Amino acid sequence: MASADLDQTDVDAVLEVVRSGRLTMGSQTEEFERVTAEYCGSRYAVAVSSGTAALHLLTIAAGITAGDEVITSPFSFVASTNCFLYEGGHPKFVDIEPDTYCMDPQLIEAAIGPKTKAIVGVDVFGHPADWDHIIDIARRHDLRVIVDSCESLGSEYKGRKTGSMGDGGAFAYFPNKQITTGEGGMIVTNDKDVYAVCRSLRNQGRDESGPWLEHVRLGYNYRMDELSAALGVKQMQRIEEFIAKRRTVAEMYDRAFSADPRIRTPKVQPHVRMSYFVYVVELQGQIRRDAVMRKMLERGIPTRGYFSPIHLQPYLQNRPGFSPAGCPVTERVSQKTIALPFHNNLSEDEVRTVAGVLRQSLDELSA
Ligand SMILES: Cc1ncc(COP(=O)(O)O)c(C=O)c1O
Repeated sequence: MASADLDQTDVDAVLEVVRSGRLTMGSQTEEFERVTAEYCGSRYAVAVSSGTAALHLLTIAAGITAGDEVITSPFSFVASTNCFLYEGGHPKFVDIEPDTYCMDPQLIEAAIGPKTKAIVGVDVFGHPADWDHIIDIARRHDLRVIVDSCESLGSEYKGRKTGSMGDGGAFAYFPNKQITTGEGGMIVTNDKDVYAVCRSLRNQGRDESGPWLEHVRLGYNYRMDELSAALGVKQMQRIEEFIAKRRTVAEMYDRAFSADPRIRTPKVQPHVRMSYFVYVVELQGQIRRDAVMRKMLERGIPTRGYFSPIHLQPYLQNRPGFSPAGCPVTERVSQKTIALPFHNNLSEDEVRTVAGVLRQSLDELSA
């Protein structure tokens, strides 16, 4: 389905760390942070153990505590909601725009109440949310803005890199992402206080200058190890190549489906440079994605049902105080969207095969 793009320079970089004996808290982590901050146009970066860890620390840095409400999108991976549930925050789910699948800013103000503390926006499948609009609303209502860019490393919104907006942004490096470190994540921010708190929190709540066994706040072990960071440094050297390769694959899919009205291909807004995380088609008409996904798997093509709405996830249903308000666009779209096999090196033949199997599955299901 997805597969990381690794070469000998990646292998050598990791081996060099192993041979050096310095396996954590070293120069590779610092270098990975430096190149990421520079790439994103952010002042600071903090490498952590996952995208979820990055979001969790940003939630704490934003001061979200028990009883606070947080506005967010239900059409996302669960971590963008879980990050503030850990702190006792309550989700206020705001529905999405049907074109970009990102949170619809027109619906945000109606969701703001006296307990609202923050907005967690998500760049869905690589497409940036409407950040200017979201940040404008947040500033007028004195809300913090956390930017979940775990799926959008390298995308640009009106010429600015994703992650760099708001109070702080999060990236993730699981092997299906634009670059990988195995497991790993990154916080980027322009806010010195957010930076300092996140550095301390990822390192068990230690102060920069304090003794090793003194802990000034309740922290975590969310550190990234040096092997992962070395891989990240090498992968960042090829990020533009990766984005271009992914765009080429996306364009091959676009062409393969261009004449088929049953299949809607991704819509990229004109002010966006898209760094694709996944390639997601939306089925038009009555056929549901689950039946199509089953048919495709029978023919040897695995797909993924990105996303299942967070507000309908079983673990939230019995949560005290949780009332799942309807999000009709999310609920409709999530019956129809399928992530097709997608990675940097998918060939034109492979794309044609997948496209053929999808069309054939639709033919059979509508017969
Ligand atoms: C939107 C979004 N947020 C957060 C995450 C969490 O990242 P990780 O799996 O590294 O914890 C992901 C990962 O898939 C994601 O897609």
